[in-house]
Amino acid sequence: MTEQASLFDRLGGLEALETFAQVVVKRAMLDDTIGHIWDHLTEDVVQKEISGFVDWLCEYWGGPRSYHGPDMATVHRGMGITEEYWDALFVIIDECYVEFGLTPELIAEVDTFLRSFKPAIVGSPTFREVVQANPDMDVMKGMKSVGVHWPSAPSALSTRGAAGDE
Ligand code: HEM
Repeated sequence: MTEQASLFDRLGGLEALETFAQVVVKRAMLDDTIGHIWDHLTEDVVQKEISGFVDWLCEYWGGPRSYHGPDMATVHRGMGITEEYWDALFVIIDECYVEFGLTPELIAEVDTFLRSFKPAIVGSPTFREVVQANPDMDVMKGMKSVGVHWPSAPSALSTRGAAGDE
């Protein structure tokens, strides 16, 4: 029996992933529900976000690049990502699957993988809200120093890429 090609190869390789990452982030920036998150990000951060996303996809899907950034809980902790924001992003992602001509089998595989990170991405309060509620806190000690532990659900901690909430 021949071994199945990596998801990276089946999706079309680096160029396809780079296009996917760029289109998703650009459309997210243009979206009425979530676009504001990028309001104060610099060009450099947005470019690093896109290349970090591609590295991260390569890492999991068998591509040539490695991801050395923080886990998904740490990356998104304090961003205040809600269910509504999550759904808005996946409307964009769902449209991309169709536009990029993915087969239903590939869509199911990619979508299940991406959505598995939801517990590590959705539900953190914004860091500003935590500081507003605790104006004397030491910001360098983080939100956990004032008793806000996120993610606190064991399901988030067992998600691949999710941080331990030490
Ligand atoms: C509404 C949902 C989401 C929003 C608003 C969002 C927003 C962001 C932003 C603004 C950054 C840049 C952070 C920075 O470097 O300062 C980022 C990074 C990143 N996000 Fe998300 N994200 C969302 C969902 C997701 C999902 C579903 C995934 C994958 C399953 C994901 C994976 C990543 C990765 C891999 C990075 C790059 C981290 C790095 O290179 O350091 N994000 N996200």
